[in-house]
Amino acid sequence: MSQLSFDAATAKSLEKAYHKRDMIRRRRLVLVALGAAPGERILDVGCGPGFYERELLDEVGEQGSIVAVDASPDMLALARRRCDGQGNVSFLDGTATALPVDDGDFDAALCVQVMEYVADPSAALAEMHRALRPGGRVLVWDVDWATVWWHSDDPDRMRRVLTGWDEHLVHPSLPHTLGAQLRAAGFSDVAVAGHSFATVDYDDETFAVAMLGMVADFVPGRGGVTGDEVAAWTAEQRDLAEQGRFFFEGTQFCFTATKLA
Ligand SMILES: C[S@@+](CC[C@H](N)C(=O)[O-])C[C@H]1O[C@@H](n2cnc3c(N)ncnc32)[C@H](O)[C@@H]1O
Repeated sequence: MSQLSFDAATAKSLEKAYHKRDMIRRRRLVLVALGAAPGERILDVGCGPGFYERELLDEVGEQGSIVAVDASPDMLALARRRCDGQGNVSFLDGTATALPVDDGDFDAALCVQVMEYVADPSAALAEMHRALRPGGRVLVWDVDWATVWWHSDDPDRMRRVLTGWDEHLVHPSLPHTLGAQLRAAGFSDVAVAGHSFATVDYDDETFAVAMLGMVADFVPGRGGVTGDEVAAWTAEQRDLAEQGRFFFEGTQFCFTATKLA
């Protein structure tokens, strides 16, 4: 069965999720690690609903500019609306493995939770390398879905739900090989920071609860998991929360590197 489609329904879910506290925390971590300076030209690969563009515009200022690329027309529509009236940002329909941008045109590039959905990440990294000027910086952020776990009294069902969810993307554990792939693409100064999104609260503002809904929508019929089993799992999570026994953990990884000057 096919992976998650970034259609209008997914765009609507992400638009909602990206206002939540954990996702605001993630954007802060990304923007600090990227370190955009006034006047810089930034490339965002897989921009989604455009939250990064809105915030990066403040960092690069009027002398700077941003080019944001995404393969989903629904995401691009949201992103364009978010940045309506801003002259120094452009949104381009394109794919990560054939970026519609010139060689050496950017000071920095980011790609947040996109590469794990790309069939050929090394081709996408080569494209980001091509787009950067010598000395340019790259930031690639992905989730290691093998670290994701909701506590459950039925660990076998939990494991099968997560196996079904693994079908939503191409590379469930891309961070394991991203460092090597960045080096192979010609980047130097490759570094990684892991960020845990852990909680004991069934709190709507967390990655845990935002993902619970997306997993529950996607998994029925996949990995041998029925709709009834997924419903039982989500009900169990609410029960665990009422009993003060809710627990979630998932680690996301921020890779940074530079193109040799
Ligand atoms: C999980 S969202 C992340 C959005 C954004 N980077 C953020 O963190 O706010 C993944 C995005 O990657 C885009 N995407 C997936 N595969 C792509 C590809 N091959 N080329 C360009 N964009 C892609 C999707 O359309 C979607 O907007």
